[in-house]
This record gives sequence, C-alpha cells and structure tokens, in this order.
Amino acid sequence: MQGDGAVKACALCHGLQLQGLGPIPSLAGRSPNYLVREMILFKTGGRRNPEALPMVQEASGLTMREMLSAAAYIASLQPKARGDGSEVAGARK
Ligand code: HEC
Repeated sequence: MQGDGAVKACALCHGLQLQGLGPIPSLAGRSPNYLVREMILFKTGGRRNPEALPMVQEASGLTMREMLSAAAYIASLQPKARGDGSEVAGARK
C-alpha cells in the first residue's frame, strides 16, 4: 500500500500500530480529514503548543502529497479499542 512506507517514521512516536504511546495520541482509524487538517496546522503554525514541537518538526518535512497518502493509509488501520478516551479528538486535557 502506498501510505505504508510514509508512516514508518510515525511509528517511532505514535507506536507500532499507530495506536498511541504514552502521552502521544493514537492515529489509527481516525478520520482522514482530521489527520490531514492537524498535520497542516502543525506545519503552518496553527498548532504550536509546547507538547506539539516534535510533531511540528515532523510535519515541516512532509509534502501535501505525503500527508494525504499517510492520512488515507492511517485512517484504514484498526482503531485503538475504546475506553480510555484517547480516540476522541480533543479529549486530552
Ligand atoms: C518525533 C515524534 C513524532 C513523530 C515522528 C510523529 N509524530 Fe505525530 N505527534 C507527535 C506528538 C508529540 C503529538 C501530540 C502533539 C500535541 O500534544 O499537541 C502528535 C500529534 C499528531 C497528530 C494530531 C493527533 C491529535 O490527536 O490531534 C497527528 C494527525 C499526527 N501526529 C500525525 C503524524 C504522522 C502522520 C506522522 C508520520 C508522518 C507523525 N505524526 C510522526 C509526535 C510525533
């Protein structure tokens, strides 16, 4: 699958299944619109809270094509089991 290679780097922080790691949010199975929008915000400065700095750095190196392809692939993955609230956008803090 095309997005496969593009998301290898994401696993470093977001966990092997992209279901989150510690404070880092789960991405698997989330809406592609949401994923792309947030990546654009990281890249263009709309989302720059201190915790976001590693992600801002990551997003700065992504092209629009890579973001779209990664989001399409990630959205197709098995979402994290419900229960801890981390799959809900904005549930953290
Ligand atoms: C160096 C670590 C790191 C890497 C690599 C990384 N991320 Fe992230 N990412 C983060 C952190 C930390 C956050 C949470 C930022 C915050 O709290 O605002 C985040 C948040 C996100 C969010 C927002 C999720 C939400 O709940 O709002 C998306 C989407 C995202 N990352 C996509 C990706 C994709 C796609 C890749 C691979 C191309 C990737 N990330 C690689 C550290 C990383």
